Amino acid sequence: MKKKLIAGNWKMNGSLASNEALVQALVAGAPKADCLMAVCVPAPYLAQVQKLLAGSVIALGAQDVSQHESGAFTGETSVGMLREFGARYCLVGHSERRQYHGETDPVVALKAQRALAGGVTPIVCVGETLAEREAGRTEDVVKRQLAAVIHTNGHCISEIVVAYEPVWAIGTGKTATVEQAQQVHAVLRAQLHAATPHSDRVHILYGGSMNAANAAQLLAQADIDGGLVGGASLKAPDFLSIIAAARY
Ligand code: PGA
Repeated sequence: MKKKLIAGNWKMNGSLASNEALVQALVAGAPKADCLMAVCVPAPYLAQVQKLLAGSVIALGAQDVSQHESGAFTGETSVGMLREFGARYCLVGHSERRQYHGETDPVVALKAQRALAGGVTPIVCVGETLAEREAGRTEDVVKRQLAAVIHTNGHCISEIVVAYEPVWAIGTGKTATVEQAQQVHAVLRAQLHAATPHSDRVHILYGGSMNAANAAQLLAQADIDGGLVGGASLKAPDFLSIIAAARY
């Protein structure tokens, strides 16, 4: 059985001073952990956090990557740049990118492809809005989002990480029930299974108000292979509690 993966998504939070305190506390608490760990940090802090994580078991991640290799794309960060700073993971298609930056399914798929080609594991985020859930469209939406990535990435699809994040559960304190989460995870697993003989390798993370109190129950579900943690990843004791809940 594969180890769970717990990834923190700092979003647009942090400072040189607070990052140092947070990462030092995580590194001190992490060796006891029985799971894979990562922190996805804002791009300007990659160099700082790379140094702070040196020699630790916690991997470094970014929050976005350009679909282009290099060139006239002001403000973008290439996968080559992420690699230079030792990034192992990169979030792709987070709902905040889809919502505020107009990222479409094909763009998300190209970003995942670019990340894979550059040696960075994309954590591809999918999830429905509240309106979509209420309209009974949850499965259609997440399947459409994942299908675009499968279509573009072919047999490499077993190299990605998927994160199911119901948009209505992100930063709202409303977590999907374990049944709701497991149901969608099972749908995504079946979709991956139809696309690759290696679907069991793929981590499918749950994200959306995961915290120290609800993590163990969520992580105990058959198809929940880890968590993508926003708010609770900014406080070392909270993040370490989630990590402690992530057993095989
Ligand atoms: P949250 O964010 O844990 O604060 O809900 C999760 C995410 O957006 O990745």
